Amino acid sequence: MAELVNVNGTILDRAKAYISVFDHGFMFGEGVYETIRTYNRQPFLFDRHMSRLRRSAKQIDLTCPYTDKTVLSRIVATMEAGIDTGEAYIRLLLTRGEGDITYDPRACPTPSLIIIVKPHLRVPLKIERNGVIVSLTTVMRNHPNSVNPAIKSNNLLNNALAMQQAFRNGAYEALMCNYKGALVECAQSNFFIVRGGTALTPPLRDGLLEGVTRNFVIEVGNEIGIPVRETSLRREDLDTAAEAFLTSTTREIVPIVKVDKITIGSGQPGLVTKALLSGLRKKAQTLTHP
Ligand code: PDD
Repeated sequence: MAELVNVNGTILDRAKAYISVFDHGFMFGEGVYETIRTYNRQPFLFDRHMSRLRRSAKQIDLTCPYTDKTVLSRIVATMEAGIDTGEAYIRLLLTRGEGDITYDPRACPTPSLIIIVKPHLRVPLKIERNGVIVSLTTVMRNHPNSVNPAIKSNNLLNNALAMQQAFRNGAYEALMCNYKGALVECAQSNFFIVRGGTALTPPLRDGLLEGVTRNFVIEVGNEIGIPVRETSLRREDLDTAAEAFLTSTTREIVPIVKVDKITIGSGQPGLVTKALLSGLRKKAQTLTHP
């Protein structure tokens, strides 16, 4: 099964996919991205991902020069050239493009659009059944007046540093606090706890990425009668949480059973988490069924 990359409209094998070292995406980390997955081989919630990509781009003074239709047709062409069957992982990168070594955006007239397509790997059943340990990292989630976490930026050094700590601690994910010490999100996913049957997740104003899956889980909760509320969370909330879970495009919903040495609830994936995961999958199937 090939991993193919669409570089500015040309479909290439992974080994031949290059961009210029003068692309400011490489040089300065100036770019934005989206991770999309397919259900029933259809890019899931594509419109929402594109509108977030455009919102992210706008915040770094970058414009995607292509229509959603063009981007979708490039994704589909790349998928069809590479993956015969099964679901796809799609990483869409929009960078500043090539130019002289200066921070002046006018030096780069043409943004680069890269689409990486490879097989989607689902979360192993063992993880779904047993849950994961996450580690509360000392790496702080960026201040909104720095590289705003609302921007899904290619500039991922802060997230990488947080994950390095988590890996050292044998954890699956890195849970991060904002500059006020509130829990906000993980390095690669959004964060929820469950208390009294209600799922709680930090509000956007606390400084986090507006996850497409996070929003989808709020909708699923409404539909299946599980209240989901946005509220600021503190470390002490981990002690009283009955359940916790993380959400992302590629991982859907993953139960969290421990945060470092703190056991969450019974130490097993909880009923609310399981109900939301099954609701999410059902709704994803309904929305993509041919
Ligand atoms: N990560 N928060 C951060 C910091 C993320 O990087 C992600 C996504 C999320 C969840 O967003 P969504 O539900 O839209 O996937 C939250 C993707 C999957 C990635 O980095 O590949």
